[in-house]
Amino acid sequence: MEYNFRVTELFPKEVSIVGSDLIPLNCPGLPHLGPQTVRDRMSQILETMGRASAEAQQLHSVITNTEKLRTSVDQKIYFMCDFSSNQVIGLLKIGKKKLFMFDLSGTQHEFSPMCILDFYVHESRQRQGCGKYLFENVMREEGIPVEHFAIDRPSDKLLNFLRKHYNLAKIIPQVNNFVIFDGFFNSRSDYA
Ligand code: ACO
Repeated sequence: MEYNFRVTELFPKEVSIVGSDLIPLNCPGLPHLGPQTVRDRMSQILETMGRASAEAQQLHSVITNTEKLRTSVDQKIYFMCDFSSNQVIGLLKIGKKKLFMFDLSGTQHEFSPMCILDFYVHESRQRQGCGKYLFENVMREEGIPVEHFAIDRPSDKLLNFLRKHYNLAKIIPQVNNFVIFDGFFNSRSDYA
């Protein structure tokens, strides 16, 4: 996804974080562009990438756009860029959700795990390791292991991805749209 501005002015690193203020963390261009221009440019990226992600997943409506991020204070998006071609090539949106989850014994727990809400790599870059690179960045930054995430309606591609890179295959059945794997309830302090 190319833009008529330099993405290096918005993003400090190849993988950068944007929250509900729509200003990338440590945005290099903020002092000379000002917050409104940064937000306008971020909005272009959000709309383009959000639409592409929804199309790739054949969703009826877009799940990532400017308005949805602006009004979701507990969500953030990791964007992956290729600075040499001035392209934004992927996004991974995460956020905490209050959920009722069953463990393997069938006991229900109410808590707010970190969830994978949207994950997309541009078609021209898929199956080249970009998704893994982005995902590893998220886990490192958040300090959360892969098995502790709940995943909102994962596509077959994402299920394949998790099986291939992280050996996640054993699903703990739920009654909501979230998928969790064996290990989800192990060694975590955020539920009773
Ligand atoms: N068919 C089957 N498996 C696939 C495909 C595909 N077309 N694309 C990626 N995968 C899985 C495979 O396990 C693949 O390994 P393989 O090529 O050896 O078979 C592995 O992912 C590749 O790993 P990466 O290159 O690191 O991943 P990639 O950069 O392709 O990113 C992602 C993975 C994000 C799932 C990407 O394929 C994508 O954007 N797909 C379309 C949108 C989508 O389905 N997103 C997830 C929606 S669900 C949600 O967001 C909660």
